[in-house]
Amino acid sequence: MSGISLALSFCLIFLFTISEASRCSIVGLPVVRNISELSQDNYGRGGLSHITVAGSLLHGMKELEVWLQTFSPGSRTPIHRHSCEEVFVVLKGTGTLYLASSSHEKFPGTPKEFPIYSNSTFLIPVNDAHQVGNTNEHEDLQMLVIISRPPAKVFIYDDWFMPHTAARLKFPYYWDEHCFEVPVKDEL
Ligand SMILES: *[C@@H]1O[C@H](CO)[C@@H](O)[C@H](O)[C@H]1NC(C)=O
Ligand SMILES: *[C@@H]1O[C@H](CO)[C@@H](O)[C@H](O)[C@H]1NC(C)=O
Repeated sequence: MSGISLALSFCLIFLFTISEASRCSIVGLPVVRNISELSQDNYGRGGLSHITVAGSLLHGMKELEVWLQTFSPGSRTPIHRHSCEEVFVVLKGTGTLYLASSSHEKFPGTPKEFPIYSNSTFLIPVNDAHQVGNTNEHEDLQMLVIISRPPAKVFIYDDWFMPHTAARLKFPYYWDEHCFEVPVKDEL
């Protein structure tokens, strides 16, 4: 390798490292940020727009995390559970919450269905399997989601009759993968 291309490679590695760091750090972020200008992605899930408004890995939040999620008509979360508290605030649209309050049974079982709508809010009890979907054919469903104990450790089910013990752990979760590093030590 010639001296110039070697220098160029170092330069690229250096730039790459800087851009990685700035995407996963609050250093240099303005105090007040315009949500419309935060980066959003679907993380490979059709119909989803996810924005981490305040994140554990992204911003160093220790106790809670806030997401803004928009689901296009017909799209939904996987059936999943997590051992954290979760609060939803529906900002726009309508949809359905499927909730199986059966974490003490062997599998979730047929969930209860609840219509959700603009200005409604709901809590997901710790470890209850649930799914939230946009069941409206015309309008997007937009929700603010607050979870405790971030980053989220999510267990995913193929269906409502899959045993709790067979649900697959997805950690780090899709939007945390980019910034995840093996934690050194929790200071709290
Ligand atoms: C926030 O960002 C959006 C999209 O870029 C823009 O239209 C809006 O004017 C911004 N709001 C303020 C107060 O700057
Ligand atoms: C949501 O609540 C706010 C405050 O009460 C109200 O102004 C707004 O019209 C409500 N929106 C809907 C769709 O009900």
